[in-house]
Amino acid sequence: MNIFKQIFAFVLTVSAALTCTSVKAEEGMWLPGTLTQTRYDQMREAGLSLTPEEIYAVGTSSLKDAVVMFGGGTAVVVSSQGLLLTNYHCGYPQIQAHSTVKNDYLTNGFWANSLEEELPNPGFSVSVLASMEDITSSIMQNITPTMTEQQRGDSIKQAIARIQKARTPEGSYRADVRPLYAGNQYYLYVYEVFSDVRLVGAPPSAIGKFGGDEDNWTWPRHTGDFSVFRIYVGKDNKPAPYSPDNVPYQPKKYAPVSVASIRKGDFTMVYGFPGTTDEFVSSYKLDYLIGRNYPARVELRTQRLRIMDSYMRNDPSVRIQYASKYAGVSNAWKKWQGVIRGIKRADGISQKRTYEVYFTKRIQSDAQQTKDYGNLLDNIRKNIEASATLDMVTTYYNEAAMSVELLKLAGIFKATCPTGVSGKDLKPEEAARFFASAGSFYKDYSASIDRETFTAMMKAYQNNIPAEYQPTEMTEQLKKHKGLFDKWADEVYEKSVFRSFESIEAVLSKSVKKAAKTIAEDPVMLLYESITEMIAAKVTEPHRRLTQQYDSLARTYTAARLQIDAGKIFYPDGNRTLRIAFGRVEGYSPADAVEYLPFTSLEGIMEKDNPNVYEFRVPQALKTVYENKDFGRYADGNTVRVCFTASNHTTSGNSGSPVFNGKGELLGLNFDRNWEGTMNDFVYDPDQCRNITVDSRYMLFVIDKVYGIKRLVDEMTVVK
Ligand code: ARG
Ligand code: GLU
Repeated sequence: MNIFKQIFAFVLTVSAALTCTSVKAEEGMWLPGTLTQTRYDQMREAGLSLTPEEIYAVGTSSLKDAVVMFGGGTAVVVSSQGLLLTNYHCGYPQIQAHSTVKNDYLTNGFWANSLEEELPNPGFSVSVLASMEDITSSIMQNITPTMTEQQRGDSIKQAIARIQKARTPEGSYRADVRPLYAGNQYYLYVYEVFSDVRLVGAPPSAIGKFGGDEDNWTWPRHTGDFSVFRIYVGKDNKPAPYSPDNVPYQPKKYAPVSVASIRKGDFTMVYGFPGTTDEFVSSYKLDYLIGRNYPARVELRTQRLRIMDSYMRNDPSVRIQYASKYAGVSNAWKKWQGVIRGIKRADGISQKRTYEVYFTKRIQSDAQQTKDYGNLLDNIRKNIEASATLDMVTTYYNEAAMSVELLKLAGIFKATCPTGVSGKDLKPEEAARFFASAGSFYKDYSASIDRETFTAMMKAYQNNIPAEYQPTEMTEQLKKHKGLFDKWADEVYEKSVFRSFESIEAVLSKSVKKAAKTIAEDPVMLLYESITEMIAAKVTEPHRRLTQQYDSLARTYTAARLQIDAGKIFYPDGNRTLRIAFGRVEGYSPADAVEYLPFTSLEGIMEKDNPNVYEFRVPQALKTVYENKDFGRYADGNTVRVCFTASNHTTSGNSGSPVFNGKGELLGLNFDRNWEGTMNDFVYDPDQCRNITVDSRYMLFVIDKVYGIKRLVDEMTVVK
């Protein structure tokens, strides 16, 4: 038995016997199939009434069969006919793809009035977990202590490929092998993949995105962040590619939808696919991220957002062109600021340091552990120090250089026209492929925004990145313009063939041979080539080596922690596999003298209504029902609740995750976290960390009362 197996065997036996925990009840994203008795007892005490087998079972039906991996998020099955609820922002790409100026579903919403009207989404599929299994020993089978990190990695890769091949069942299945505990444990996940998923309905974005970027990551919130889809299958109820003959899927399990009142303190459970968290992070890495990397990212994005905003404000067509880009840039920008603030406020780095002092003391009391782990933290510190420069160069490459849209376009040219970049030749079919991408690029392109962004980002790169990582062409071009960024931008944005669709079209429609030469000598292409060559020559390989070394140190550090505190119960960091988080409905205090309640209601929507601000225009249909007070069974007192906060440990990827009560009935869909709690990816603070859920009653109210789509509500099992 290898050391990790021993540790785990120990952790599992001991943790089942002990009640001592290293984490508060609310912290943690647990593996559903392996809940320890202690954890399960805690959940029961908090209000759970399902058995472990009702939550997760293989073979027989359990709640897990109703939880669906949907794009980058999660969804839940809510009818015997394969009806799915997910977030509006998770279904957004599909809703947008079906929208045209004539059928503007983004503005007006979309509701299919029959199965025939439900809209297929070619290329899109969803998956449901069939089984998961600890396969650590098969993966580690050929690992020996003398292997280099590279050999170890190669051996694991081979084992993964072998197991995936052997363990993918016949039919429409996918087998994923995922590392847990930084690679100390490996699990095999087998998913059933459904490739006929149709759009059933979505409210207008004035409901689905109500509050937009302004309200994003904040509480109090009033977003109806939901959309409706349906899984279709062949007549044998098995996954099948899209066909008009396919029929609605009859799931093994679907969730009843609750319209009962929710009270402060009620038990909640989030069942979904959280992305990435890093709770085992050392103080050194956290310090680097919070003190250096995130602030740089935030600063770069602040400049880009300011530039976009100034043009979007003055030109409605630019506002539409850049709406989705702006939202994308702003989402992480806002979150990182929340993380920085949250870590500082919770004194997160000191918390990690305090732990490291304890860790060091513990290992010093044991000769073998001193030998194994004595230098570990110091090596982690050295690795972080050694990586910092290359990591910052990579960050500036992605966040500064590649945020210049013309440089991105040069990258597209290089990818679509591999022979063309050589300057010798350009094949007509390559040019055609490039034009296909270039068309959509220029449709949403403002040269004025890009020019200002170019100036700001090139300045930032020059000012912050050491000379040896300045690409030659950057230095040369700037020198040619006597160090004047504006003059340099003039040349790029007035002379480059990439500057407009017309100019590139004019060049490419001449002889393709000549075009290749022109493009190879273009300032944008030269700059792009120079940056990517510098990265390839000086960054990629040493950065990869340091990252590999870091991964190895992090793996050992995680193993050491599990070993020295073997009596405690740990949970693996989020890795986009099925997890359960549990907590209760509660508000929080974001600042001195401020106390937030956990619920919002229709009144708050009406208070925010502002016809002059795009994100806050309440649709007339919603106002009318509100004025008539026709709330039916969705009422709570004399209003309808819209969103609520609870203390479940969630992260990105948990969007669209079902939030259940203790009986496994749907209380709503998770869609966000509070800004003050976004640091929970590194440090969970039970006082501050809250997930944000759109209430089932608001979703049903919108479907039923506002838009009158009875057929959807009728097919759900609505319980009180
Ligand atoms: N903050 C949420 C998440 O990380 C919602 C993002 C979509 N909404 C938006 N206004 N950009 O995905
Ligand atoms: N909106 C996020 C998502 O798309 C969930 C919010 C979070 O990061 O907690 O998954």
